[in-house]
Amino acid sequence: MSRPGTSLLLDNVGELVTNDPEGTAPADDRDVWALGVRRDAAVVLAGGRIAWIGPASAAPAADARVDCGGRALLPGFVDSHAHLVFAGDRAREYAARMSGRRYATGGIRTTVASTRAASDDELRANVADLVGELLRSGVTTFEVKSGYGLTVDDEARSCRLAAEVTDEVTFLGAHVVPPEWAGDRGGYLDLLTGPMLAAAAPFARWADVFVERGAFDAVEAHVLLERAAAAGLGLRVHANQLGPGPGAALAAAHGAASADHCTHLSRTDIRTLAESGTVATLLPAAELGTRSAFPDARRLLRAGATVALATDCNPGTSYTTSMPLCIALAVSLMRMTPAEALWAATAGGAAALRRSDVGHLVVDGPADVVLLDAPSHVHLAYRPGVDLVAGVWRAGTRVPPRSRLEP
Ligand code: NIG
Ligand code: FE
Repeated sequence: MSRPGTSLLLDNVGELVTNDPEGTAPADDRDVWALGVRRDAAVVLAGGRIAWIGPASAAPAADARVDCGGRALLPGFVDSHAHLVFAGDRAREYAARMSGRRYATGGIRTTVASTRAASDDELRANVADLVGELLRSGVTTFEVKSGYGLTVDDEARSCRLAAEVTDEVTFLGAHVVPPEWAGDRGGYLDLLTGPMLAAAAPFARWADVFVERGAFDAVEAHVLLERAAAAGLGLRVHANQLGPGPGAALAAAHGAASADHCTHLSRTDIRTLAESGTVATLLPAAELGTRSAFPDARRLLRAGATVALATDCNPGTSYTTSMPLCIALAVSLMRMTPAEALWAATAGGAAALRRSDVGHLVVDGPADVVLLDAPSHVHLAYRPGVDLVAGVWRAGTRVPPRSRLEP
């Protein structure tokens, strides 16, 4: 469907969210207006691009037609934060946490051991499974981080495998200091910012650092960010997840594209982010998975910060690929409106990846769309836990449904 040379008409769309409000009538609420909603619309996909957007009554003929039956059609979600290259799971750690143990950064080392022991093909198969889940949940653009290798070869391998599935690869050798360097942090810093960065950079667009007690401090992060920028990488920071700290301010000071987590922000952090070009990326599934207090998105939005939502898919704190879940959490528990949450999961994610081509629906843009089995985007939060994704097209090609094993 919509192969190069063929066209597909998505007809009878009840609510088309474009994130392109130009030319649309003013809505009562600014957050809703920002979605650029068109009612009773139609869209034509051709050659992997959006060929036409307009009223259903004026829809042109196409090679194939889907009657959307008044349902909502959205831009594909943009997941700007995902750790997909790993082996093993940490279900036991999760269960222990749910019986009262606190989350600590040390759990990362468990996944590092499993990841190092896995073959390329094992890692590749795990990545493919998670990418399949992301696509079926409506994510059409996603970032993938390394960070569970933490040797020169294992980090380069993780970035290389990530580059097989996305252009948005992030080098996260600065996830934790691995056990073999526990007695020599300076030695690991030298390795990280020297040979490891050099080996990973050819496969990566971004570098990231986990600034947290138990991970890296401000001085260490500063060195990594400087060296990564000098190596031509864009910057991202895991900031203020487990407690207050310097991560968000550091991200803004280094011109990072995104400060991620932002669970514990001071007033100054919020002002700094709002005045910077750094997006505040919120990862509510990590709070869910660690039974932690959720960040207050309202404070960031009120201050004028750009907010993105992402899954943070990882085996430790947030083992989910569901952007609809993140949207529902953001609305119910982080004081976002449904419109703000949808914008953050699409256009916000694109801003966090400094991408202007995705996260909205415009003629000549990529044909990345999600059809909901619901009349409105509001249902994503209003009907939590219900699989409302009826169809996903990525670059005009329909994402196949999950093939389940025969019983
Ligand atoms: O984003 N915060 C750092 N990294 C992951 C957790 C990693 C882990 O526990 O494996 C996160 O939550
Ligand atoms: Fe993360």
